[in-house]
Amino acid sequence: MLSYQHLYHAGNPADVHKHALLAWVLDYLTQKPKPLSYFETHSGRGLYQLDAPEALKTGEAAAGVNRLAPYFPEDHPYIKTLEKTCADHGPHAYPGSPLIAAQMLRDTDPLHLAELHPGEYACLQDTMAPFRITPIQEDGLQMALARTPPSPRRGVMLIDPSYEVKADYEILPKLIADLHRKWNVGVVMLWYPVLQDARHKPMVQALSQAIPDLFLHQVDFAPVRPGHGMNGSGMAVINPPYGLDAAAKTLSDLFHTYAT
Ligand SMILES: C[S@@+](CC[C@H](N)C(=O)[O-])C[C@H]1O[C@@H](n2cnc3c(N)ncnc32)[C@H](O)[C@@H]1O
Repeated sequence: MLSYQHLYHAGNPADVHKHALLAWVLDYLTQKPKPLSYFETHSGRGLYQLDAPEALKTGEAAAGVNRLAPYFPEDHPYIKTLEKTCADHGPHAYPGSPLIAAQMLRDTDPLHLAELHPGEYACLQDTMAPFRITPIQEDGLQMALARTPPSPRRGVMLIDPSYEVKADYEILPKLIADLHRKWNVGVVMLWYPVLQDARHKPMVQALSQAIPDLFLHQVDFAPVRPGHGMNGSGMAVINPPYGLDAAAKTLSDLFHTYAT
């Protein structure tokens, strides 16, 4: 079943949105010396080369990171992680979310990274080896439920499914509400695509009803090629850190000016 491979999409406008918010949250939370737990339910391989044939075939990074990164403030944590990744892995390297987290977190912060696809998992193992992090080849949502509440209790979880099947949209609101009951202090970030047929809307509505203080942020962008169905990117955040609304507003302005 697992046919999605993020290598075709790495660095696209949705990745810029998701990774910029994630980097901002991790930067904010690591300003305090207190340790935190980090979870990824759908990790991908962690490191991408944007000059690989798969990435060039779709050309999605051209409309994403290549177009938008020059308009970020130089000191934005997303830009710092892009620079570090290129310094470590070459000029076309692009960090996936597990690598962003591994670069930004400290020795005191445990990372729980789930990836089910055997090939992606093997690549993720290689990406994480220098950090001495062993990823987990399990269903990510089951891993999330099994390992929460974590120790340390403070922490962040990124849920970034590939939404290959309609059931992904249907199971998430209840599962995330259960997760929030188990781990009420966790910052849980759910990414979703904004497609022309708006199939995310019932999921977001159900989640908002289950979690009244949910923070929602969406950006619009031009489809990466004619006929492509995705014209925006959304993130729902439980327990948003102070200042996330202002950071997200800066992203809204950037996308509105340069991506639509
Ligand atoms: C959108 S990609 C992840 C991208 C990554 N979070 C990033 O931003 O760099 C989704 C990944 O989830 C994996 N996957 C799909 N179903 C899964 C499951 N049930 N548990 C864990 N991983 C899964 C896919 O193999 C794919 O690599």
